Amino acid sequence: MDKNNNKKNDKNVKKFYELDHHERLEFLKKDAHLTDQDLKIFQDFPKNFEFNKVNNMIENAIGFVPIPLGIATNFIINRRKYLIPMAIEEPSVIAAASKAAKIAGIKGGFLAEADNSIMIGQIQLISRDKRNDKDKFLDKEERERIKKIILNNKEKLLEIANSKSRSVHAIDLQIREISDESINKIGYMIIIELIIDTKDAMGANVINTMCELIAPELEKITKCTVILKILSNYSTKRMARCKAIFPKEMIGGSKGVERILYAFAFAYSDIYRAVTHNKGLMNGIDGVAMATGQDVRAIEASAHAYASKDGKYRSLTKWYKSKEGDLVGEIEIPLAIGIVGGITSVHPYVKISLKILKIKKVKELALIMVAVGLAQNFAAIRALADEGIQKGHMKLHARNIAITAGATDDEQINIIASKLVQENNVTVNKAKEIIELINKNEN
Ligand code: MEV
Repeated sequence: MDKNNNKKNDKNVKKFYELDHHERLEFLKKDAHLTDQDLKIFQDFPKNFEFNKVNNMIENAIGFVPIPLGIATNFIINRRKYLIPMAIEEPSVIAAASKAAKIAGIKGGFLAEADNSIMIGQIQLISRDKRNDKDKFLDKEERERIKKIILNNKEKLLEIANSKSRSVHAIDLQIREISDESINKIGYMIIIELIIDTKDAMGANVINTMCELIAPELEKITKCTVILKILSNYSTKRMARCKAIFPKEMIGGSKGVERILYAFAFAYSDIYRAVTHNKGLMNGIDGVAMATGQDVRAIEASAHAYASKDGKYRSLTKWYKSKEGDLVGEIEIPLAIGIVGGITSVHPYVKISLKILKIKKVKELALIMVAVGLAQNFAAIRALADEGIQKGHMKLHARNIAITAGATDDEQINIIASKLVQENNVTVNKAKEIIELINKNEN
């Protein structure tokens, strides 16, 4: 067959994005040898969350991956009680957070605060002179001249940035000068930063729009070139903090407190431990973030960058002993989150999670997330400094193993799970053996 004919045929073949839902599934069925049974899970959409909705949220949609949603209990934050939805696939996390919250509740619960929703949008200005391909910014004087021009036009630039948005406002503009530290040694760049109050929104879209809006004016007044125009996910102007006291009687007395302080010393001083320590507290923060439709990747990226703020990656929490000998925990973390815009207004589950929380302002969500993070960290280091996490973890894990092995009713699952833990052999094979034994005895 000649080349032209091949091209014509290609044109008649629909691209994946052009296929409707049924056609996409048929395509995958052939390609991956899926059975009709396999495809069934992509055909049952919950009410209010039909294929069209999913297909509008992402590209090439075929279905969704459900994540369990549970409620963390016992939380008292700034004297208010909360039931907190968490979406997470890992067993033990919700139970651990709830238990930690109960212990913190003895001394009044969590005291939390959050900054206003101030975010940064960055515009990268470079100075390659189009006429002779020279880098003007190598010259300090030239850099100062350009910065002056931008500052002199600050009001106008802010006006342009704000021209399309009614509720969210760019409130300031700042300039930084950086030089390329990579192997390419490209030289200096001027970074213009819009300081934006995104109110109850996370703000990514509006920030990016504002950066793109002022880029042409920046090029015009400076005669330089704009390269990137994008928000910064390092949201250090949007911090949330929380503190709680955990009475020593509930954690094995002063010996227990001391062991936890050793756990903290390890996490504060060693990156290999710090990453795991922070992963544990992010279990809690991400769980709430997933349930409330946040950009979890943005939260994670910012949190881990903040953990390295003093040049060494450290624990995001601090633990110390109070005068009375109780354990005090503190956490501070950047949180760029929203309760309006994004998927919060279209995702039916997210809307209900926000209703369960009964919150009206994004700050309140930040207080909740940061409290859950602290609770989660307490629960983890308390267990680790005591009997370890596997005993509790295995109890729940064993239930999953029992289900995987074929156990169906709740009573049978419980019996098999306890046997697996008792025999310290939490495997599918062992679970199958027990099921066979139970079936034999029943017959
Ligand atoms: C497991 O998901 C989280 C922990 O590893 C956290 C920690 O080690 O602190 C238990």
